[in-house]
This record gives sequence, structure tokens and C-alpha cells, in this order.
Amino acid sequence: MKALNVAIVGATGAVGEELIKILQERRFPVGELRLLASRRSAGRRVKVGSDEIEVQAASADAFRGIDVAFFSAGGSVSKALAPEAVKAGAVVIDNTSAFRMDPSVPLVVPEVNPQAALKHQGIIANPNCSTIIMLVALNPLHQAARVRRVVVSTYQAVSGAGMKAMEELLQQVRDYAAGRQSEARVLPVAALDRHYPILFNVIPQVDVFDEAGYTREEWKMVRETHKIFGDSTIGITATTVRVPVLRSHAESIYIETERRLTVEEARSLLSEAPGVAVMDDPAQQLYPMPLDAAGRDEVFVGRIRPDLAVENGLNLWAVGDQIRKGAALNAIQIAEYLLSEGALG
Ligand code: A2P
Repeated sequence: MKALNVAIVGATGAVGEELIKILQERRFPVGELRLLASRRSAGRRVKVGSDEIEVQAASADAFRGIDVAFFSAGGSVSKALAPEAVKAGAVVIDNTSAFRMDPSVPLVVPEVNPQAALKHQGIIANPNCSTIIMLVALNPLHQAARVRRVVVSTYQAVSGAGMKAMEELLQQVRDYAAGRQSEARVLPVAALDRHYPILFNVIPQVDVFDEAGYTREEWKMVRETHKIFGDSTIGITATTVRVPVLRSHAESIYIETERRLTVEEARSLLSEAPGVAVMDDPAQQLYPMPLDAAGRDEVFVGRIRPDLAVENGLNLWAVGDQIRKGAALNAIQIAEYLLSEGALG
């Protein structure tokens, strides 16, 4: 197989680091690996296997000779530089929300709608992490019984807000242990003026609010699900919440389906679904938790039980490593799919 020249934009960030790790783990056929970040990181050396690669400042002409570029440096960087990477001949797999709702850009979860990736015009979007985790769990049930209604509440790890948020939680832990006063500067939204501590707390705000009182993260779960399932009639309502967990998002998902699914049927569909691991035995207190999912590729599903008040209602609890399956792994799986279809390089 021909080796591909790969660029990672945002290589020094939480998702960027994971991309580097997963490319090696999965033996993705990498020729040159070009690590790009902000000017602040230019010149920094990053260990990749037995090599050291110097980080370069991301710029319009940093993509010469690149076959595939993974973007994970925020929406504004993607908006500015993804078209430049495409002009240079690269396929862009973008982790930000910059292009997700653009009708000409496929939005892809390989377990759900891989073929959509083949229709790209240079850019393929990776969905939001909470959406990916939910849809890997819901797709087998949707295919079998058509999901009509979703009520989801998320319990999202701080690393979803980037390395600075992870560092903020760790600093608050150290401050608490040392009896020092803590300061919050990053969460819930770094760019806003008001910040709250995350240690010993739960913050019902991920991203900024709109006039309807929903956050952008909540709208992403609604609109991205409609686009990926190709069905905007599914009634979805989301509450997205930040919790003091370092890694892996959890989601309480309630669904109503067109056809009634028994718990046994749902469990059997989920057990056979790609990318899903069922972990569900209440008698043994077995259910997935963020510590189980961290560093793993699967979306873990447990607490599968009927809604005793609504005939076609079912409750699930899904947990996934949002930096891996929710971001870096999903992006690399898209590239692997293109490769397997002869559509890359
Ligand atoms: P840097 O480390 O140089 O700031 P995270 O989401 O974990 O905070 O990571 C964000 C990533 O995006 C980092 O790699 C960061 O690089 C990169 N980044 C931030 N701003 C820019 C920019 N203007 N151009 C290129 N990369 C950027």
C-alpha cells in the first residue's frame, strides 16, 4: 500500500496527540507526518515512535504534498486553512464544527454512514463527540425499529473542552489538597467572562446559549443526528452537562421507537453492532463508567431497560472515550474507509 503524507493541524492539542498515537497503533500507512500548530508551538519537538518531529506553524502553504490533513485546532483555523489544504490536493478530515452542517460536506460516523464519505468535495466533517457516541449506540436500534424520539442528557469530561480545561480540573484538585483557594478561568466556556469551578461541581452548560435557551452543543446533537441519519423528523432534545471527569463522556439516552423493541432484542442488536460493547448486568453491578471507557475504542452500553410508562420507550446508558471514538479514532476510521475504497492517495 502506498504511504500517505499526513498533516495534523492542532498536533499539540488533546485530539492532535491522540491522532498521532492512533495513526501508529493502527499502522496507518504514513509517509511524511507533518505536525502543525499555532506559532507558539513552532520549533517544539514531539516524539513519534522512535523519531522526533518538529512542529511547524500552520499556514496556507504548509500543505504542499499532503494527501490527508486532520484538522483539530478550532473552527476558525479550519475555516481559514481547510480550503487551502484542499487547494494543495489534500483530503481534509475536520474535527471542528466549521463545516458540519454544510450540505456539500459529508458528516460521517463510519459505523453508521460510511458511504457518505465518498461524496466529498475535499472536506469531510467528523461529528461532535457527544453525537458520535450517541449514534454508534443508537444506529443498530434505529435500523431495526426506527427511532422517533430521543431525550438525551450528557455527562461530559473536561478534556472535551481541550487541554486547558483538563489542566484546570487538575489544578483545582491540587489547590484543594493544599488548602489553597482555586480560581476558575476556563470552564464552562473559556471565551466568556464568567467561569465556575468544576471540582465538586456539575455545570449544565457546554458551549454558548442561544435565544431558545439551548446551548450550541445541544443543537449539535440534534442537527448532526438529523444529517447523519438522513431523517430530520426524529424529535430530539438534549441537555449537555460538564462533570469533573478527565476523560470519556457518558450519556443517559431515552428513545421511543416506531416498532416496539424488547430489552432482549435491543441487547442482542447492540451486542452484534460494530463499535459497541454491551456492559449490562445490574445483578453484578455491571454498567459502563468513564474509567472503563478511557483509552478504549468501543462505545459501551449498559442500563438497558424499558420505560414502564411508555410502550415503545427504552432507556440506555452509553459511555465512550470522546477523544478517541468521539474525535481522533473516528477521523482515522474515515481515512481508513476511503483507503479501503481506493479513494485516498
Ligand atoms: P498550540 O499548542 O500551539 O496552541 P486543545 O483543544 O487541546 O486546546 O488544542 C488546540 C490545538 O489547536 C493545539 O494544538 C493548538 O496549538 C492549536 N491551535 C490553536 N490556535 C491555533 C492557530 N491559530 N493555528 C494553528 N493551530 C492552532
